[in-house]
Amino acid sequence: MRKTIIAGNWKLYKTIPEAIELANGLKRELFQLDAQDIEIVICPVYTALTEVFEVIQNSAIGMGAQDAYWQDEGAFTGEVSCKMLKDAGCTYVIIGHSERRQFFGETNETVNKKVKAVLAAGLTPIMCVGETLAEREANKTFAVLEDHVAGGLKGFSAEDAVKIVIAYEPVWAIGTGKTATPAQAQEAHAYIRGLLAKLYSKEVAAKMRIQYGGSVKPDNIEELMHQPDVDGALVGGASLKVDSFADIVKKAAKIRK
Ligand code: PGA
Repeated sequence: MRKTIIAGNWKLYKTIPEAIELANGLKRELFQLDAQDIEIVICPVYTALTEVFEVIQNSAIGMGAQDAYWQDEGAFTGEVSCKMLKDAGCTYVIIGHSERRQFFGETNETVNKKVKAVLAAGLTPIMCVGETLAEREANKTFAVLEDHVAGGLKGFSAEDAVKIVIAYEPVWAIGTGKTATPAQAQEAHAYIRGLLAKLYSKEVAAKMRIQYGGSVKPDNIEELMHQPDVDGALVGGASLKVDSFADIVKKAAKIRK
């Protein structure tokens, strides 16, 4: 059984007071949900982590960061380490989001180093993979997924791999309002699970969680979650409002697989 995981990626939004307000609203809306049944994660900007943690600690909501550096400390101006994120209350870190790959030079190699550092710090990595529209149209979706998955997981043991959450995010569906159809999502998720079985074993692949991300909304979460290989969602835009994120979480929590 893979536990459903719904994560909100707040991206570059929310001042500290706004982040506190959103976290408080979610805590209020989601207090009845049991952390045994569903994992709920919110990923604010760095500056709001400490304050958001104050709000969500002792609730069913966990906190993640949107990136991390692989060194613990040193002369690396502008970076934040996993040790520091843990210190601020994070238990998850998103790594290799397509916006980082696209705008900030993230590569499979840096993703691999970062995921390794996140695991070493005892945190859960959410490793993002996914193709662009041009790649999909050129029939390269599976090749890109193989490259991202194998590259990102290079050198990890099965014991490490099962701790990693993979987020399949087709770049063409992020922030565009265009969701992959449930069938497209399932096809990609099943392909990724097949890759994991090849890299490790069927047992390991069956344990690893794969989230879908890209224009997830309250009105499409259910059909996505009904797909056998979709184990949760990474939500951008719709995670910025209490109502829409709480609705997504509640709907996902009702779907028992
Ligand atoms: P979106 O973003 O839900 O706004 O499409 C998803 C993501 O980038 O994680």
